Amino acid sequence: MGLRALIITNAAGGINTEYRPGALVLIRDHINLQGQIPLVGPNDERFGPRFPDLTRCYSKSLRAIAHSAAKELGSNLAEGTYVAMLGPNYETPAEIRYLRSIGADLVGMSTVPEAIAAAHMGIKVLAISCVTNMAAGILDTRLRQEEVFETTERVRNQFAALLRAVIPGVAAHVA
Ligand code: HPA
Repeated sequence: MGLRALIITNAAGGINTEYRPGALVLIRDHINLQGQIPLVGPNDERFGPRFPDLTRCYSKSLRAIAHSAAKELGSNLAEGTYVAMLGPNYETPAEIRYLRSIGADLVGMSTVPEAIAAAHMGIKVLAISCVTNMAAGILDTRLRQEEVFETTERVRNQFAALLRAVIPGVAAHVA
């Protein structure tokens, strides 16, 4: 299709206790714990190599573009490592403690397969998480699906504004 850049958004649980629900965080790197990889099976060399490098899966230059767009809107974006779980259940508190210990800042159930497929094809990836809730066991409350939707509703205009500000810069960068 000739795609040169992909912007991925998701809802994620915050593992890093510096984050607050509603925060928008740029994904800098990921840990894939889904037990699945979209490239398994015969490789189509027209798309990319058999053993693709993921050292720069999340483009530093696209992140820089997102940081300046956020600054122009008067906000600051954190960066973090996203761990992909298979789901569909949310994690246990013990799993969250484990995920923090291996370097995860955010947890979710998406994004990583898409980012791997894009990286394989040489498509630059910008991935932005909306922290919809603190991950299990961080607060003394249960996780509620409604909280996830409530937070996305609350942040939706800010998130849309960020995307509107980011897209022209991304397009120019890969033109
Ligand atoms: N865990 C996994 N996926 C999620 C979460 C979470 O806490 N919040 C939103 N998506």
